[in-house]
Amino acid sequence: MLSYVDRKDHWSYLNSTPTAQLLKWPLITWGIAVTETLHYQDGQLCMESIALESIVEALGTPTYVYSKAYLTDAVTRLATAFSAVEHKIHYSVKANSNLAILKLFSDLGCGFDIVSGGELSRIVAAGCNSENVIFSGVGKTIEEIDYALKLGIHCFNVESGQELTRISERAHNLDVRAPISIRVNPDVDPQTHPYISTGLKTNKFGVDIESAERLYTEAAEDPHLKTVGIDCHIGSQISQIEPLLEALTCLLRLVDKLDARGIVLEHIDLGGGMGIRYRDEVPMNFSTYGTAVGQLMRGRSQRILIEPGRSLIANAGVLLSRVEYLKPATNEDTNNFAIIDVAMNDLIRPALYQAWHDVLPLSEPTPDVSPINWHIAGPVCESGDFIAHDRALNLMQGSLLAIASAGAYGMVQASNYNSRSRGCEVLVHDDRFSVIRRRETISDQLRLERTLQ
Ligand code: LLP
Repeated sequence: MLSYVDRKDHWSYLNSTPTAQLLKWPLITWGIAVTETLHYQDGQLCMESIALESIVEALGTPTYVYSKAYLTDAVTRLATAFSAVEHKIHYSVKANSNLAILKLFSDLGCGFDIVSGGELSRIVAAGCNSENVIFSGVGKTIEEIDYALKLGIHCFNVESGQELTRISERAHNLDVRAPISIRVNPDVDPQTHPYISTGLKTNKFGVDIESAERLYTEAAEDPHLKTVGIDCHIGSQISQIEPLLEALTCLLRLVDKLDARGIVLEHIDLGGGMGIRYRDEVPMNFSTYGTAVGQLMRGRSQRILIEPGRSLIANAGVLLSRVEYLKPATNEDTNNFAIIDVAMNDLIRPALYQAWHDVLPLSEPTPDVSPINWHIAGPVCESGDFIAHDRALNLMQGSLLAIASAGAYGMVQASNYNSRSRGCEVLVHDDRFSVIRRRETISDQLRLERTLQ
């Protein structure tokens, strides 16, 4: 079959240009103080020591690109921030579930937080240890529970009474003991976008504190269940530490009550949710958060688990795109549109949450040409298909752009809407880059379907 996508799909590249001399100042002030990951060098936007344009030349666009140095540094910094307390980082797979990324986090000492059997299969396919997996989510099916029980995971974060019963029945059936933790909904407002707020009593997640106590009593009497912890996750892109500490305080009250009744927990899971800087947000200081958690945990035996996704990987990634057409305004009532080859199917966050992503030209702007304001939109047939509004840029047909902060909830939320094939993914390490997911082709899309007769 003829494919209209004819691009190279080699798996590993060595930059032909000499290792770039890094500039002293980063272009972007990262949410956590990682510097020099993305910077202009000799007029070219570079990630680590690679000019992003060289990736476009090799692989085309749309292409997601992630920095290994950023990811490594982010894990180290978070671990240091929590050094006052015994803890483990369980990377939240939903943020970016590429196999190479999972393997990297595993090599860096992380466990995982998952929400589906599919994510568990990815852990296995990446060669990571399922014993470091925490399984959250309100809708675990029998098949998913059986799969996790057979593999052996660290624990299920149980989100309802019926789920606890189902896990017990499946454990009985398989003649094993299921490790469980109850996800408490502490009814705390995380002050974030309503779609990613999960810790209010009006949300579908977890159980209220009184029901949690009842479920712990049930679990303690059940020979097929082993109670190991307690859990909460109140939301995502949270910038204040106070709601997170309020949630922990709520959990600790129950931990003490249970302790008095002889139900002793091994861990307290605080969930993820730490926010990052997309535009001008002031993210929480992870050290302040870690130190405050350490203070609340003083004199206690439980280990702290955290489930960060976005804060580890969002700012490690960019999405590369090309301007297909410019449609300048025809009068003062109309807009300047730059139509790029990235659309809402590639990165849905602007359309879904009105999210801001910086848009950076791959060629460094020169001060002699004044930029004009562009609406940056994709080819999908919806007016909601936009990546950014009113960005001051110097654009031409063919200009190359990097959409920033795209490492988390980017590729994982990509779809085939408008029968568009998903882009490829690349991991940069120093002056090398490797394809970690090849570009999808139209044959990949068509092979699951058939006509009748
Ligand atoms: N743990 C649980 C149980 C979660 O539901 C989540 C995210 C996390 C951990 C990780 O949260 P993070 O550290 O990444 O904030 N698609 C949305 C984000 C949805 C987050 C869902 N749950 C977005 O693009 O902003």
